[in-house]
Amino acid sequence: MNNRMEKIVALCKRRGFIFQSSEIYGGIQGFWDYGPLGTELKRNVREAWYRDMVATHDELAVPPGAPSAFSMVGMETSIIMHPQVWKVSGHYDLFHDVKVDCRETGRRYRLDHLRGRWLYFVAALHPRHVTLPPERREELERHQHLFICLDPEKPEEDIHATVHRAAKLFGVRSKDAEALFGREDAWSSEPLEPLTRDMDLSRVVAPDAALPGTLTEPREFNLMLQTILGALGGEESKAFLRPETAQGMFVNFKNVLDSTRVKPPFGIAQVGKSFRNEITPRNFTFRSREFEQMEMEFFCRPDQSKEWYQYWRDRRFQWYLNLGITSDNLQLRDHAQEELAHYSVGTADIEYAFPFLEPGEYGELEGVAHRGDFDLRSHAEGKLVAGPEGCFVVETDANGQPKYKGSGKDLQYFDDQTRERFYPHVIEPAAGADRATLAFLCEAYHEDEAPDEKGAMQTRTVLKLHPRLAPIKAAVLPLIKKEGMPEKAAEIYRDLKRAGLAAYYDQQGAIGRRYRRQDEAGTPFCITIDGQTATDHTVTLRDRDTLEQIRVPVQEIVETVRQRVE
Ligand code: GAP
Repeated sequence: MNNRMEKIVALCKRRGFIFQSSEIYGGIQGFWDYGPLGTELKRNVREAWYRDMVATHDELAVPPGAPSAFSMVGMETSIIMHPQVWKVSGHYDLFHDVKVDCRETGRRYRLDHLRGRWLYFVAALHPRHVTLPPERREELERHQHLFICLDPEKPEEDIHATVHRAAKLFGVRSKDAEALFGREDAWSSEPLEPLTRDMDLSRVVAPDAALPGTLTEPREFNLMLQTILGALGGEESKAFLRPETAQGMFVNFKNVLDSTRVKPPFGIAQVGKSFRNEITPRNFTFRSREFEQMEMEFFCRPDQSKEWYQYWRDRRFQWYLNLGITSDNLQLRDHAQEELAHYSVGTADIEYAFPFLEPGEYGELEGVAHRGDFDLRSHAEGKLVAGPEGCFVVETDANGQPKYKGSGKDLQYFDDQTRERFYPHVIEPAAGADRATLAFLCEAYHEDEAPDEKGAMQTRTVLKLHPRLAPIKAAVLPLIKKEGMPEKAAEIYRDLKRAGLAAYYDQQGAIGRRYRRQDEAGTPFCITIDGQTATDHTVTLRDRDTLEQIRVPVQEIVETVRQRVE
């Protein structure tokens, strides 16, 4: 993890945003606890999503860019569902990663994490053996844990020779090796991807292994976490913790239609925990085994699905910008055909340049998928597979019977105006609450210069969180603990709380130190009650980002904070 990310992780622990789960027992990989500030931050992220998707949605108006008006409803479905759900959805057979184990270190890796990476370092040398320009050496040192081809017999070999030796060793054509070495971006993994498809594992030096050839053959590994229901145990009692919240909404499609007045186009939104037995949970909360999703299934007429797909891609991208992610750090990337999930006829990822990634690399925040009629049809008819001409057909066993039977229920929509019966198509924006929270934290982290109590400039750490997301909206600070200041401060603190604004009262320590504490917590406003308050009934309002201080009448302070937060 690089320096900036280390500082963010340290701040998260120090200020009570995020702790490792079960830390006093040494922790458990892939699980995280949110502390007091983190809980508020993540709740605000969830609420911003739910308010935007459902609570403030106006179904009578056409939102800008939308093909028409539409309805939105919320749901909360169970984590454990009938096991058939996961067979029919494809998760039972297809939701796996390919893993390899290192016989030397006992570590386990995802094959796709090795693929595309190893050649990146083929041209690299072990820094101990070769004289390199400082920036290359730095680059190599940062990546020592990855895959380095080295020849301890030839310590003085220069980089050109090594590229060619590596190319030979890995069977890369000399022409390609030349192209690799000659390119400006020779050190980026992406253009090398096609060369890495036939990676010969016996020639890869695994991270932390001394020699090549310690990696096992790749094996498939299902990512669903299992549990046993009831007291009997055995295969019949096996159930799965959901790996996505989406299926709960698909299997309730008919219930929602029958119990409300919604009709396509409409969306069902849900926020809830999901679980995946990730082989390599890593990068702080980015890839966890227990995490929270914010998913919405949007049901529309098939002939309008492309327009809706476009609408949701753009709208969801804008959501992150509206909450403070800068466009430099955000990108919308369309999936290539071979990258699409088994159900998807089109997907775009919203990606963020997380600081633990290489410059120019992005990590997924949210996927917006056009799922066609895959989900409703499979839960009605049985597990689907790709058929002729891009259609999905029910997968059959050796006897021509459905491999996994659907519910047999009619999950089509009947339009009583047009008298049409059809499976609506689904557009799914699927976001991660933990990844969004992490991105907002990373974006907010700043170090700048600010004057201390004596006017000397000091480095301050500040979280410039969007006020809607900030765990505390305003801190109320009596300058000293006498002359009626604490009493006045307590009054303002209670008024803020009554108005639904998360307020914090702090009378401990020098005022400068109290400001610093709030800067680190991401509090956008500090209200200071001082000597002047008793005489002119005003307080100081300090802005976290600009450091500007203005005087505001006491009777207007709650409204001023409310307006600025919104
Ligand atoms: N229903 C579709 C679906 O689940 P996904 O891309 O696998 O799609 C959606 O997951 C989002 O859930 C991701 O974009 C990411 O934000 C979050 N997510 C997925 N796996 C995660 C993990 N192991 N840890 C944290 N967040 C994860």
